[in-house]
Amino acid sequence: MSTQPRMNVPAFRDRKGAGPPLVVLTAYDAVSASVAEAAGVDALLVGDSLGNVLLGYDSTMSVQMDEMLHHARAVGRARQRPLLIADMPWMSYHLGPRETVLNAARFVREAGADAVKLEGGAKRVEVIRAILNAEIPVMGHLGLTPQSVLSMGGYRVQGRQEDAADALVKDAETLAGAGVFAMVLEGIPGELAARITAAVDVPTIGIGAGSSCDGQVLVYHDLLGMLNGKSPKFVRRYAEIREQQVEAIKRWANDVREKAFPGNSETYG
Ligand code: KIV
Repeated sequence: MSTQPRMNVPAFRDRKGAGPPLVVLTAYDAVSASVAEAAGVDALLVGDSLGNVLLGYDSTMSVQMDEMLHHARAVGRARQRPLLIADMPWMSYHLGPRETVLNAARFVREAGADAVKLEGGAKRVEVIRAILNAEIPVMGHLGLTPQSVLSMGGYRVQGRQEDAADALVKDAETLAGAGVFAMVLEGIPGELAARITAAVDVPTIGIGAGSSCDGQVLVYHDLLGMLNGKSPKFVRRYAEIREQQVEAIKRWANDVREKAFPGNSETYG
């Protein structure tokens, strides 16, 4: 049981320009939530990246509400101290305010989420306001928004051209004005992230957005080197857990084949 007080949305928002950068990590189940919490993260994000990372989908556009809720509930059961933010999947907030609020409320009621996150700028303000009116805090998400992969024509860094950069600054100001308590900036040049961070009065949480943001978020499995293949440029791998897992399982399989497992100490008398 953690002795520190639980992080809440006002305390998270108040870290804008105060204290060390905020640390946010994805968690998709009770084990990853408890490991991330033991490491002292400020917030857990049940990201829809679980679609690619855990479920084998090609994009987050395949992830459904029930899948998000299944994982969010598991994280909610394990979480003690960090803020718990749940990602709203594609099409859970695109059909109007009523359906959006009902979906957001499920994360609060069923998983104990403190807030929801959704992707997009000015065109999402109506549903953001509706969720806020239902007393559910909202985190924004701008830049390379994976649920827009089809309209972006792939996973490309956003805001490289001046007009696109200006539009993202405007979107960020609009989201902050609408009342989001923080926003993720994903896949944008570092200078643009610095501009947005200076322009808004809520914390910016970067992923592939340089070091000027008010905090950073990474995908748990990327940070720990749990996935096959090359990591994206913005990832730093702090461990090579996949290799260690393969090695451990090979050793066990070998012991089984050599009849060296189980031994006396692993056998009931
Ligand atoms: O789904 C996710 O994990 C995210 C983070 C990468 C910000 O949205």
